Amino acid sequence: MCGIVGIVRRRLGVARDLIRSLKKLEYRGYDSAGIAVMSDGDIEVVKGVGTIEAVVGDAKIRDGYVGIGHTRWATHGGVSPENAHPHLSCNGEVAVVHNGTLDDFEGMRRELIAKGHVLHSETDTEVVAHLVEGNLKSGDKPLSAFVKAIKKLKGSYAIVSIISGERALFLARNKSPLVIGLGEDGNYCASDVAALLHLTNRFIFMDDGEIALLTPSEVEIWRLNGDSLEKVHKETEEVEWTPQLLDKGAFDHFMLKEIHEQPHILRKIAESIDYYTRFSERLNSLLRDGSLTIVAAGTSYHAGLIGKYLLSKLAGVRSEIIVASEFPEWSSHLRQGDIVLAISQSGETADVLEAVRIAKSKGSKVVSIVNVPGSTLTRISDESIFIQAGPEIGVAATKTFSAQVAVLYVVSSLISGRSGISRELTEVSELLRGSMDSLDEFSKKMSDLLKDKEHVFFLGRGINYPTALEGALKLKEISYIHAEGYPAGEYKHGPLALIEEGTPAIMLVPVNEELRKKTIYNIMEVRSRGAFTITIQPRGMEIPADASLETDAWDELISPLIYTVPLQLIAYHTAVILGRDPDKPRNLAKSVTVE
Ligand code: F6R
Repeated sequence: MCGIVGIVRRRLGVARDLIRSLKKLEYRGYDSAGIAVMSDGDIEVVKGVGTIEAVVGDAKIRDGYVGIGHTRWATHGGVSPENAHPHLSCNGEVAVVHNGTLDDFEGMRRELIAKGHVLHSETDTEVVAHLVEGNLKSGDKPLSAFVKAIKKLKGSYAIVSIISGERALFLARNKSPLVIGLGEDGNYCASDVAALLHLTNRFIFMDDGEIALLTPSEVEIWRLNGDSLEKVHKETEEVEWTPQLLDKGAFDHFMLKEIHEQPHILRKIAESIDYYTRFSERLNSLLRDGSLTIVAAGTSYHAGLIGKYLLSKLAGVRSEIIVASEFPEWSSHLRQGDIVLAISQSGETADVLEAVRIAKSKGSKVVSIVNVPGSTLTRISDESIFIQAGPEIGVAATKTFSAQVAVLYVVSSLISGRSGISRELTEVSELLRGSMDSLDEFSKKMSDLLKDKEHVFFLGRGINYPTALEGALKLKEISYIHAEGYPAGEYKHGPLALIEEGTPAIMLVPVNEELRKKTIYNIMEVRSRGAFTITIQPRGMEIPADASLETDAWDELISPLIYTVPLQLIAYHTAVILGRDPDKPRNLAKSVTVE
């Protein structure tokens, strides 16, 4: 995963801004960090294991005109100071940061060592610095030394390099994100726009196979075409996000802030029905020519399951859904004219992007639902729409799940020709806004009960079966308590054996009467075997349970938007009680850019 950043400017002062940018990228990886800064020709590096604050926060680094930075989520090589980026060449005149994974780098390592290079890390990245150095020594000019090195690489990479004596950033991108920011006194680059919002809101989005040279006053971009470089002209795009959106404000964690933003986001979506109409019409017309397959990963996959349900229930549209990492194996049936709907918060998830590439190679049309502007998915899709949730910093997806569900609700409703969508979403928004405090209070109490448990089960039916999956994912990823989501009726076909005295079962009770009756049987089944049952349910229903949260959910189809919030809060408070950082769960990174 990893986050990278580069700054080149006319005046001194890059170090402070590199660190600010890196802090915004910390969600992409946080096992080690580093920066390299150049002022009078010498490159100075500070790097190590730990958070950005710990490693470079108060680094006594000489300031400079050009610099690069990196925050790491280890792939090649363990977590160690040597493996932290930036990596330097033997003579210290080339520094490189990289996000991605290089194939066959072992061969290049051996070759470099045979030529007398001394490599200090186990990473794939370090070879790039040595390749550039080798080319410079052979007499190449800096840009051509960099380009020649890039031509040797296979795999995924977003690479930024600085070269001693050059007030410039050398960039290359293939299958890993890299955006260019345009400023008044210099130019910048980073893994995503959020990292540069404190510097600019004007961006150029690089595509795969492109190389760029950034100086304080110029941006030049080329496309690598076989052995030749073709100059490309790219449009500058303005991004509406502001740096204020990246602030935690009065909240203890980003996750809590993002959970609380949900009423506002739902209202925003409710007010944007016109924006979603064109996309829905386009999707509807494509549906005449081919079948629909949804693809997504993690939380977005759960939203996709709800989307599948809504498309079927509301619009009579048949679709299938494939989890992104399995798409290559399960998509043999795709044909020319079929439609793939990709759902992704980041728009950078490698499994999703690979699925899209496969779909396109078969002649399928790709439409996508995305949060991050300019992300790769939006660039390779035939059509995309944004969920308008703003930047999500907490590693656990919360507000973007609700926004994805709301957008899928809008799109399904528009395809079906239903009216009143805006009113319904506004009502959900108001309902949530008015009940945040009581949801929080209930969730805190439940977290206190759950904190000592080994297993927690989440059971739901119909549209709330994916909500149960999402509740379980949230709890396990940030509290590290084992949690499983299951269809309530399927539970008796095996997992019921796991229920012991006191095992918590969180039951999502349907609004629909028929479904509710069946769920009540399921509640009895687990209770009679000793489960501690917690229900999240419509108000005023007599339901046997050890603890209940009564909600004002009035309709089955909008209930996931309401039931999800207490599940997110339960996960959040459980993690906090257990002393775990909900914003940075162990082993995880927000944007999973490796397959
Ligand atoms: C869980 C979570 C992940 C992501 C998954 C897909 O809280 O955040 O499961 O949902 O990695 O990410 P996107 O939606 O960016 O494709």
